[in-house]
Amino acid sequence: MNIPTNMKSNSSYLLTLLVIFSSFALFADAAPEKKGRQPAKAESLYHRIGGQPAIDATVEVFYKKVLADKRVSHFFEGINMKKQRAKQKAFIAAVLGGPNPWKGKDLRRAHDSLDLNESHFNAIAENLQASLKEMKVDPKLIGEVMAIVASTKNDVLNR
Ligand code: HEM
Repeated sequence: MNIPTNMKSNSSYLLTLLVIFSSFALFADAAPEKKGRQPAKAESLYHRIGGQPAIDATVEVFYKKVLADKRVSHFFEGINMKKQRAKQKAFIAAVLGGPNPWKGKDLRRAHDSLDLNESHFNAIAENLQASLKEMKVDPKLIGEVMAIVASTKNDVLNR
């Protein structure tokens, strides 16, 4: 590189470069919105709850409770619970705003042969709520999750 002969030393030359580059950087960042950048979105419930690890741990606790609950355990006889846990983890992650869309069956089709009623639905919802509590999820976030679960009721009960 050709250093101009009128520069007194390498260090003053580097200082000049630094000043030029930093003022350019300041100028470039002056109006981010004009360059199509958006302010950060409010964090998804998926992230606020602790992401996939928190969901995975909750679903493990949830199915322990469900299988021990005589009101609903018989529905899961003959079901591959390893697959069922994996599906439920993926489903909950997706509906809470996680990064991957749900690719399984829609809830109507997944439950239409089970002849479910309101008390079955409430038992499952109760077990999920108790699992979230056991995982020490913030009560406000539990409320948000349970509102989403409640919104699936008509599909799950095929109404
Ligand atoms: C509370 C809301 C509920 C949600 C969000 C939910 C979610 C799901 C999901 C995501 C699947 C997997 C679908 C697939 O195979 O792709 C599934 C399957 C299943 N669910 Fe639910 N469920 C709910 C309520 C219930 C209730 C109330 C019962 C019974 C008491 C139940 C029993 C089952 C059973 C037995 C399967 C397995 C079906 C099969 O593999 O043939 N679910 N559920």
